[in-house]
Amino acid sequence: MAAPQGSKLKLLAFAGSLRKDSLNKKLIQAWASIAQKQGVEVTLIELNDYELPIYNGDIEEHAVPENVRKLQELCSEHDGFLIASPEYNGAVPALIKNTLDWISRPLENGDSGVSVLKGKVCGIAAASPGGLGGLRALLLLRDQLAKLSLWVAPSQFALSKAPDSFSNGELTNESAEKALANIVQEVRGFYE
Ligand SMILES: Cc1cc2nc3c(=O)[nH]c(=O)nc-3n(C[C@H](O)[C@H](O)[C@H](O)COP(=O)(O)O)c2cc1C
Repeated sequence: MAAPQGSKLKLLAFAGSLRKDSLNKKLIQAWASIAQKQGVEVTLIELNDYELPIYNGDIEEHAVPENVRKLQELCSEHDGFLIASPEYNGAVPALIKNTLDWISRPLENGDSGVSVLKGKVCGIAAASPGGLGGLRALLLLRDQLAKLSLWVAPSQFALSKAPDSFSNGELTNESAEKALANIVQEVRGFYE
């Protein structure tokens, strides 16, 4: 895959949780600064700022929510993505699925929404208070993203017992930092 022309790699980063004290928000924040240290330009967003109804074809037919357009635009402006996802009942949270479903819908110009994702790269991680760290959700998220024609970095990271790895909101787990840095390297490698 050719490197993005003329500028730094630009990644859009978000967590799949709306919770104020979300572990995954802390994880994505740490991950964004790890990526920035590798020279990547990261746009970190909170999905709270892009609230969407559950996908409903009737809503879409009436008027596509403004936040769908904003998210599609953001996706089109970036070369790839970093996603930190909680695990809910062994699966990807509805928030992520719903966000991706809306993004995949046709753009204002009629092109498929998948075109703002297709052929791009994604790194995935999860954080959970549990012992598996959200690993089961990552396997499903990987599959979901591949179905949207994204290339998902081979390595992924599930942070188990996650509350123990943060102090004052900062990631204090060196091996977690290394694992996240390694995924960023794989993401960068996609364009090299
Ligand atoms: C509906 C629901 C289902 C959950 N299922 C799982 C699960 O399958 N595996 C797991 O590790 N944690 C599970 N949890 C616990 C979440 O990992 C925990 O709430 C986590 O803090 C959520 O991520 P956040 O901190 O980023 O909001 C579940 C939580 C909820 C609310």
